[in-house]
Amino acid sequence: MDTAEKVIELLYDRREGWWLMHELGSAADAGTAELDRAMGELGRRGQRLEYSPATGVRLCRPPALDAHLIERDLPVKRVGRHAICFPVVDSTNETAADSARQEHADGLAVLAEAQRAGRGRHGRRWLSPPGANILMSVVLVDPAGLLPLEAATIATGLAVAEGVEAAFEPSRRPACSLKWPNDVLLEGMKLAGVLVEQRRRAGKRVVVIGIGINVNASPPESDIGYAATSLSARLGEETDRIPVIRGVLVKLDEWIGGILSDQASAIKRIRTGWERRCGMIDQRHTIASHGRRHTGRVMEIDPLEGLTLLTDAGTQVRIAAEGASVL
Ligand code: BTN
Repeated sequence: MDTAEKVIELLYDRREGWWLMHELGSAADAGTAELDRAMGELGRRGQRLEYSPATGVRLCRPPALDAHLIERDLPVKRVGRHAICFPVVDSTNETAADSARQEHADGLAVLAEAQRAGRGRHGRRWLSPPGANILMSVVLVDPAGLLPLEAATIATGLAVAEGVEAAFEPSRRPACSLKWPNDVLLEGMKLAGVLVEQRRRAGKRVVVIGIGINVNASPPESDIGYAATSLSARLGEETDRIPVIRGVLVKLDEWIGGILSDQASAIKRIRTGWERRCGMIDQRHTIASHGRRHTGRVMEIDPLEGLTLLTDAGTQVRIAAEGASVL
């Protein structure tokens, strides 16, 4: 661990308190010059530090993204083993796909404070002000094509809902629901979206799992055409993104690992998890898919096959998640 990592860890873990400089230096095992260098480095990485002659230094909360705070002791096997944080990229999905050319990219979580060209489903834009939210893409290098895209898409929605909730104590825990195929809702408004894509890089199949979570800001309905919310709007205060990122990575790692080790049992569990959180089963909905509209009662949501609708005309139709949206 380098000195900047030790220092950010110490500052972050002393939640409300201050560190006297000499105390911080000895805890980080760093002399004055080295400590200064580390603090300068943290500032360049976007951390805001507050200094007081009497009480020392502390980290302003919520902190900027930091790969070490995300990765440290994260109980994962594959997803989120490593993280990399950028101030700004075009789209984390593109950066993640390109990183697959490098060795050891598998499982990498690519995060950014801002995107110049964040993408949503159906060619829509994904809007997020700098430094407010989670913009993250996970790279899964899958040369043998073992990970079904549909299952990864559906499992990611569930992982986001579970991971967000796991980041909070029961008394403050938001209750997330799911809207097929992969919207995560809070109090009926969109909290998070998922964009799973497959690419070829260096001759190998790469699955990129893109996740956008509104933590401290959400775009107005007039800009995006639907109602969105954020965790801070629900909790009434600015929210630290780090525990939410970690919670989501842990759950995603569990679900992706489950699909790859025992697909049949994972699919059953995903289906149960979805049914518990998705208010759509047995409800009447209209679904647009590849230029057609289907209206009827939702009978089942299958992580591999898609959604089964009993249409008003009395026929059963299966609609794949790819290219579908609920109207
Ligand atoms: C949706 O339309 O609901 C999907 C939104 C996905 C947004 C995320 S933000 C991180 C990643 N990078 C992108 O450009 N898009 C995804």
